[in-house]
Amino acid sequence: MELVIAENLVDAGVLAGQIMADHVRAGARSIGLATGSSPLGAYREMIRQYNDDELSFEGVQAFLLDEYIGLPAGHPQSYRQFIRDEFVSYVNFDDALVHTPDGSAADIPAAAADYERTIAENGPVAVQILGIGANGHLGFNEPGSSLRSRTRVKTLTPQTREDNARFFDNDLSKVPTHVLTQGLGTISDAEHLVMIAIGMGKAEAVAAAVEGPVSAYCPASILQMHPHVTVIVDPSAASYLKSVDYYRFAFENKPAWQNF
Ligand code: GLP
Repeated sequence: MELVIAENLVDAGVLAGQIMADHVRAGARSIGLATGSSPLGAYREMIRQYNDDELSFEGVQAFLLDEYIGLPAGHPQSYRQFIRDEFVSYVNFDDALVHTPDGSAADIPAAAADYERTIAENGPVAVQILGIGANGHLGFNEPGSSLRSRTRVKTLTPQTREDNARFFDNDLSKVPTHVLTQGLGTISDAEHLVMIAIGMGKAEAVAAAVEGPVSAYCPASILQMHPHVTVIVDPSAASYLKSVDYYRFAFENKPAWQNF
């Protein structure tokens, strides 16, 4: 695992965006996208590179981590719409190649199985960007999620619903209680995981994920079991890490030949 302590939110986003763009230029056919505020800087960097003719998403498939259950298609807070509004509509993604779990399906278990099948048919995902919940969730894998789980329904914790109420007019009753999310096993199948965490509110979760025990209670601790992980944090999100000096030293002395 590589731990990068960026100067600030902007630098963190640019670095994450560069990593994803490098994968696409290197021929990635599938990439993994995430919602939330954490990946927005990475999307901005990729949009900039696209506008400067440095990057093209022609033929690239994108897989989102998760989706709310019960929001009608096109709902502004559905993750499908979010990723259009924040990223894919600004670049040359084919909308038909942008995949999300179908949270409006009549048969949710079948939608979960379909999503797994689509990823398997088009995978492996070369690079997956991730945020982390304040409670350590990845995607919507809340504490207690099986470390080998696949795409399935999850019930949101009260904390996650409260955290996300800001997107629903601060009205908790509008926040769905259930979601479809890639499992921790599904996420782990991606070849390179890039997690980005910004701010003091994520400091505890980052420390638990990176330096704590591997435990279903901190779903993001599954990163410790993956062969290729980059965690990008700002100084606040690094506040509770024990080995900050080592992480800085390793990054400053990274061999030039070591890509990504
Ligand atoms: C949301 C998403 C996660 C995201 C997390 C943090 O609920 N399902 O994929 O990483 O919460 O969001 P933010 O980046 O806005 O803090």
